[in-house]
Amino acid sequence: MGTEAPKNCPFCGARLAFIKKAVDAKPVVLVQDELSEVSRKNLLETLKLEMDATAIYSCMSSKSKEYELQVMFRRLACVEYVHALTCYKLLGMEIGKLGEATCSDIDMDNFHQTFDLEDRATKMYMEFAKTSTERHVKIFFAGLMQAEADHIELINGYLKGDK
Ligand SMILES: [Fe+2]
Ligand SMILES: [Fe+2]
Repeated sequence: MGTEAPKNCPFCGARLAFIKKAVDAKPVVLVQDELSEVSRKNLLETLKLEMDATAIYSCMSSKSKEYELQVMFRRLACVEYVHALTCYKLLGMEIGKLGEATCSDIDMDNFHQTFDLEDRATKMYMEFAKTSTERHVKIFFAGLMQAEADHIELINGYLKGDK
């Protein structure tokens, strides 16, 4: 709670530069163009990572004893799920089922796993923003990369307690 606007979209984690009034918005999900082979491959790999991340963060949320961390991991799970839903839409696929994930009972282990996952995602999306061919897919990956970089920043705040 507070009076200032959040720095990121609460649903997808996009930074404010991506947030437009509905009337001015040009949502990437509304582009119906046929995808190139490389963009399709990039989006399928992203979909897998985002669905895995959703299940992992849901697990971490359920394991934490602290309410603040339960909420933090739950929020991450929701944001990653929105990323997965966007991939389904761009790929023109039906929404699939979430898989099962395992995670530690110890919050600090889960912070480290979160850092590794977000670091991998950020690097992957930086690459995908370059290699994807269509403009709307490049924009999607650029936004996604920033959202995941902000998750690293978020988790770094918790990891500092480990030093
Ligand atoms: Fe994500
Ligand atoms: Fe993330």
